[in-house]
Amino acid sequence: MSFYGLPQFPNIRMRRLRRLNLIEETSFKKEDLIYPIFVDENIEGRREIKSMPGQYRFSIKDAGVEALEVRELGIRSVILFGIPSRKDEIGSEAYNKEGVIQRAIREIKREVGDITVIGDVCLCEYTSHGHCGLIKNKRVLNDETLEILGKISKTYAESGADVVAPSGMMDGMVGHIRETLDVSGYEDVAIMSYSAKYNSNFYGPFRDAAESGYKFGDRSTYQMNYKNSDEAMREIRLDIAEGADIVMVKPALPYLDIIYRAKKEFNFPLAAYNVSGEYSMVKYSSSVLDEDKIIEEILLSIKRAGADLIISYHAKDFAKRK
Ligand code: PBG
Repeated sequence: MSFYGLPQFPNIRMRRLRRLNLIEETSFKKEDLIYPIFVDENIEGRREIKSMPGQYRFSIKDAGVEALEVRELGIRSVILFGIPSRKDEIGSEAYNKEGVIQRAIREIKREVGDITVIGDVCLCEYTSHGHCGLIKNKRVLNDETLEILGKISKTYAESGADVVAPSGMMDGMVGHIRETLDVSGYEDVAIMSYSAKYNSNFYGPFRDAAESGYKFGDRSTYQMNYKNSDEAMREIRLDIAEGADIVMVKPALPYLDIIYRAKKEFNFPLAAYNVSGEYSMVKYSSSVLDEDKIIEEILLSIKRAGADLIISYHAKDFAKRK
């Protein structure tokens, strides 16, 4: 039997190969994972994050212990978020050379050999108003914020960070950070940009974890409207032009179409962020779903869509079972 001249059943039987499980188009390994670590300057030891069962905030010292454990599980890189002891209008703790992330980077580099340390560059955890930039008349300023993002990136590089990851969706942030790093002699420090970061409801648990909720308004003047897809391609194109080494789509699961499209259009190193809300949904569903299998299926689907790297709170759980 033939349909427009194409071979058909019964000559073709798809189940023949499937039975043998001979072809697996996508593979996923723990080296593709990046593990987020929350470092809290205000605590000793570690403290569980209520909205994210199984995730903790760590003291600077314990962040080193945690990073070592992560590395020994076979995960190659960590991304750091800080909770400072002091917040102000301009987030000045974020570029303090003795700030929480700067010290945590040094601690992790001292404790762990051969680990890639990524510092998240943003103001929301450090400002008293909780926005990702400087504020004037309740508006988030763009160009003035760039100066601060440059300063933060430089102090991360000085502390030994391998990668800086600006997550605040300011226009021109990648170009400005690249220039600042280069004139300071840090041309080998890479930039992973949160290029297409959506104004998503899936960040809820993170804001609790990092104490980064905002006091007024929302993030819709800088983060993307989730109704848009072409705009994400423009954001990514601009970041590549400004010198990003890795671009990112965030969140991951509700945005697999964006990941797929970004990989197809740019064929550029691509990360995806499997965010806090995606994590907590799985955790709170464990009475009705097989958690281990769900995690594997989710991570694989993000990889299949086109991500090279996946930032995920599930990384440790996944690596433990491999
Ligand atoms: C801060 C930042 C956020 C996340 C990473 N960096 C939150 C936000 O924009 O409010 C979210 C991560 C997650 O939900 O897991 N700029």
